[in-house]
Amino acid sequence: MKRVFLETYGCQMNVADSELMAGVLERAGMELVASPEDADAVILNTCAIREHAELRVLGRLGEFAHLKSKNPDLIVGVAGCMAQHLRKRLLEQKRDHKRVLDLVVGPDGYRNLPDLLRRAANVPTAEIRLDRDETYGDLEPKRQPGVRAWITVQRGCDKFCTYCVVPYTRGRERSIPMADLLTQVRHAAEQGFREIVFLGQTVNSYHDGTHGFADLVRAASNVPGVLRLRYTSPHPADMSDELIDAMAECEKVMPHVHLPLQSGSDTVLAAMQRSYTMARYQRVLDRIRARVPGVAVSTDIIVGFPGETEADFLATAEYMKQARFDSAFMFKYSARPDTRSFKLPETVSEDEKGRRLQHLIDQQHQISGEIMDGYLGREVEVLVDGPSWAAKGGKPNQAGKPARADATPQLHGKSREFKTVVWSDDGSEPGTLQRVRIVGATPVTLLGESVRVPRPDPLVLIGG
Ligand code: 5AD
Ligand code: SF4
Repeated sequence: MKRVFLETYGCQMNVADSELMAGVLERAGMELVASPEDADAVILNTCAIREHAELRVLGRLGEFAHLKSKNPDLIVGVAGCMAQHLRKRLLEQKRDHKRVLDLVVGPDGYRNLPDLLRRAANVPTAEIRLDRDETYGDLEPKRQPGVRAWITVQRGCDKFCTYCVVPYTRGRERSIPMADLLTQVRHAAEQGFREIVFLGQTVNSYHDGTHGFADLVRAASNVPGVLRLRYTSPHPADMSDELIDAMAECEKVMPHVHLPLQSGSDTVLAAMQRSYTMARYQRVLDRIRARVPGVAVSTDIIVGFPGETEADFLATAEYMKQARFDSAFMFKYSARPDTRSFKLPETVSEDEKGRRLQHLIDQQHQISGEIMDGYLGREVEVLVDGPSWAAKGGKPNQAGKPARADATPQLHGKSREFKTVVWSDDGSEPGTLQRVRIVGATPVTLLGESVRVPRPDPLVLIGG
């Protein structure tokens, strides 16, 4: 078995885990292929955070069942957060000769992935034990090309928010030693990555026994070649003054914080066991905004948690109006097996969850639009990601030309605040910092105009 097709669902942590798996597989002499039809094995790296995420994976497994009926030797594997659930299916299927799943591997089993795949070619295989000590800190991932390297600094979660499945699927919190992480940052910078994003379920509770997260951020921002540093997602209760100071003092640490609120009601926050009150969240937000002028703050919100009353919901809506987040990811509560809130009776109907969600989406759309309009006329510093064909004409076709003949080539990149900026191609190289003047805005994208000083035309110089 040589060729593996790897498909990723869910959060950035899963994307980073897939890069880790890709590194492990390539070092074992296996090749990653771009389509399942060309593969000896397919692996889905899965997400279990909401039921919808799991249903998508199950749908995809149905497609692989079809592929397997044409190619019975195909190994079908599932990795990541759904492993625990799917293990039961795998065991049931063992008795069933129409088996689709051959391998189930949980988030702590990736080190031995090549062996597991070889074993799965002969016998259904499951590796779902959680391992308190596994951090993969010594393993070099095979990163997707680009300007941004996502580096996992901490795995698992100890917070046990009552709605959340992560502590059960990913196990206890472990931090990767700072020295290993700085090696990864140096390697990423040597490979040409210019922005580092530190990842962790509660990234700011990072502690390797000696160093805390603020130490790591300060040390990493001094690595040569790193132009920008970000992190996601911090937990509001662990947002230390040291970290806020590091953001304020290190030029390379970007002014953007994703600070999940979840609810604007103290009653619901307590039922969620979020370990902070609204007053505490507000103090953290005030401190960040005071110390880091112009900082962008985004958040996560859940509507329809069991027991959420109309008054609780309105408190969330009201707080979001007052806090004026730059953007928000908003979700309907989804009851997850194993979690503590799974046992609570659901008190908010699907329809009502939908209504609450739509209300918040509309309100946030308006606020995000106003904040983005505030950029009009300003010059922003953008880290160039590369060509963008999205604004006009769609993706390039196979010949590398835009799908529509009248499409003008554009570049896209991120501002310091992590806003997407699109502007017409002025020849700026990916991975460079450029100044762009903002001339248009939508609630999600800034449209810019190059303010690059054009290079002198050599002919003019000769002529002059
Ligand atoms: N239902 C809905 N949303 C959830 N999240 C986590 N668990 C659930 C759930 N059971 C959301 C939270 C978290 C984000 C990653 O996903 O808002 O911050
Ligand atoms: Fe889940 Fe809460 Fe941990 Fe975030 S902090 S991963 S929401 S348990």
